[in-house]
Amino acid sequence: AVTRAQAAIARHTRLVDDFPSPGIAFKDLTPVLADPEGLSAIVTALTHGCTEIDLVAGIDARGFLLGGAVARELEVGVLAVRKGGKLPPPVHAVTYSLEYGSATLEIPADGLDLTGQRVLLVDDVLATGGTAVAAADLLNRTGASVVGVAVIMELVGLGGRDTIAGGLGPHVPVHS
Ligand code: PRP
Ligand code: MG
Repeated sequence: AVTRAQAAIARHTRLVDDFPSPGIAFKDLTPVLADPEGLSAIVTALTHGCTEIDLVAGIDARGFLLGGAVARELEVGVLAVRKGGKLPPPVHAVTYSLEYGSATLEIPADGLDLTGQRVLLVDDVLATGGTAVAAADLLNRTGASVVGVAVIMELVGLGGRDTIAGGLGPHVPVHS
């Protein structure tokens, strides 16, 4: 059966050919999140059966939108995992490779006690899994434990799920 969330995604996702580079069919979820049923259905689906979470971490940039809503639903707080260069010092940073070049993610190194916090990582899309594993490594380094990954959409065939299992362990559930 098609779930409420799947129906909203199918109905509202905007497909853009050749973006951000030729041959890539970009899936723009902006209209899905702008739709009241879309946001509600996705947050309900992603938090279903989700227990024992202390903190939601949303990945820059669309993970912020979803992360805030998921955190409110779970009645926990939210942490923004920023792209490099946006936060005041001191920061914890991780640099990871992309297909071309590299990217950096950062969180504050002061003012937060993440020790022992069970973290749900939230983003819009899981592709190769590189971003999710880098964000999880960053959080785990502070004494937190990433205990789950939740995304709206998983681009199957790019190995994201296997990369997360390899990087974080097979016990960390990936919910898409
Ligand atoms: C996209 C997407 C995920 C990431 C997934 O973000 O929003 O964060 O790619 O790819 P991966 O699983 O292969 O790491 P992107 O880095 O394009 O930047 P944006 O979120 O700022 O658009
Ligand atoms: Mg992203």
